[in-house]
Amino acid sequence: MLQKKQPIALYAALLLLNAVAQSGPLFAQTIPSLRETFKNDFGIGTALNNAQIDERDPQMTAFIARQFNMATPENVMKSALLHPQWDTYDFTMGDKLIEFGKKHDIKINGHTLIWHSQLPGFIRGIHSKDSIQTFFTNHIKTVAGHYKGKVYSWDVVNEALNEDGTMRKSVFLQYLGDNFVTEAFRLAQEASPGTELYYNDYNNEQPKKRAGCIELVKKIKAAGVRIDGVGIQGHWHVGKIPLKDIEESILQYSALGLKVMFTELDIEVLSRNFQGADVGQRMTANAQSNPYPTALPDSVQQQLAADYEALFKLFLKHKDKVTRVTFWGVNDANSWLNNWPIRGRTSYPLLFDRNSQPKPAFYKVIATAK
Ligand code: G3I
Repeated sequence: MLQKKQPIALYAALLLLNAVAQSGPLFAQTIPSLRETFKNDFGIGTALNNAQIDERDPQMTAFIARQFNMATPENVMKSALLHPQWDTYDFTMGDKLIEFGKKHDIKINGHTLIWHSQLPGFIRGIHSKDSIQTFFTNHIKTVAGHYKGKVYSWDVVNEALNEDGTMRKSVFLQYLGDNFVTEAFRLAQEASPGTELYYNDYNNEQPKKRAGCIELVKKIKAAGVRIDGVGIQGHWHVGKIPLKDIEESILQYSALGLKVMFTELDIEVLSRNFQGADVGQRMTANAQSNPYPTALPDSVQQQLAADYEALFKLFLKHKDKVTRVTFWGVNDANSWLNNWPIRGRTSYPLLFDRNSQPKPAFYKVIATAK
C-alpha cells in the first residue's frame, strides 16, 4: 500500500518544487552562475543601482551574489552624488557598496573620478582655472583617499575623447589643458597606490577613437604615471556588433601592456538615430519609438542571443588579455536604456529579463564556456 503511494507523493512533490522554482528566486538559484562559469577566464561584473546597493530586495541580493563577482556603481560614486558642495562629501551610498562587496565577495570598481557629466551643480558657478584645479585635485585626493584599500580599481577618467580621437571640450580640457588626464592618474596613484587605475570610454574600439585613446595612454606612460587598463564600455546595437574592431582593440590595447575590460556591456534592440552613449544626446518620442512594449519578438531575441554568443566567443579567445566583462545593469528592468535617449521605452539589452529570468542569450553565453 505504502509502496504504491510513494511514486505519487514523489511526483506531487516534484511538481510542487518545479512550480515554486519557476516562480521566482529558487529558479534563479538553479540556473548556472556566470561568475562560476567564467571563474577561470575573467571577472563577471554588473552595474548596481541604489536599491540594489541598499539590499532592499533580499532575492535580488542573492541573485546578484550568485551571478557576479565584480560590481560598478551605476551612479553613486559619480562626483555630483559624492561631492554635492564645495566642501561636502557624502560617502553614505558608496560605503554601503563597499560593505555589499565585502559581504558577497564582489570586487568593486569605482566609477568614476573625473567625468564631464554628472558633475556637482556648483561647478557651473566656477569660472577660473585655479578653482577648477582646486576642485579637481581635492576631489581626486579625497575620494580616492577615502576608498583606498576598499575599491579594487578606479575608472580614473571617463569619456575624455571625441569620436575622431581628439579631446572632448569638457570643463577640464577648457581650464586645465589636455594634460588633465595624466594629472588625474598621477593624483589617483598618489592617493590610492594599491588600486588598479583605468581609462574608460565608449566607442573606443572604433579606429579613430582607439587611436586617440592609445595616444592618451602613451602620454600617461611617458610621464612616468601608472595606468593599468582600458575599459571599452560596449554599448552596442543588436545585429551590429563591431567584432573586428573589438578584436583589433583587444590586441592593440594589450600590446601597450594594458588589461582590457568590457565595462558597461549591453546590446540595444530599440532604434536610435546616432551611435554611442553620450548621455547628453536625446531623441524625441514618436509613434514608433517603443515598438515592443510587452515582449521582444523571437527574431530579435535570437539575434540578441547570437550577438552575445559571438562576443563571448571573442572574449574567451582573448581571455589572457580580457580581465573583466561587466554588464550595465542586472536585468532588463534596471537598464538605463529604458530611459535613454527617450524616456519610458521598454528595452531588452541584458541577459536577464524583467523578472531576472534567463533569456536565450544567457544560455548561449554559458554554452560558450564549454
Ligand atoms: O536621482 C534622480 C532622482 O532623484 C530623480 O527623481 C530622477 C528623475 O529623472 O532622476 C534621478 O537621476 C537620474 C540618475 O540616472 C539615477 O537614476 C538621472 O536623471 C539620470 O540622468 C541618470 O542616468 C545615468 C547616466 O549615466 C547619467 O549620466 C544612468 O543611470 C547611468 O546608467 C549612466 O551611466 C553611464 C556611465 O556612467 C558612463 N557611460 C555611459 C553610461 C550610460 O549613459
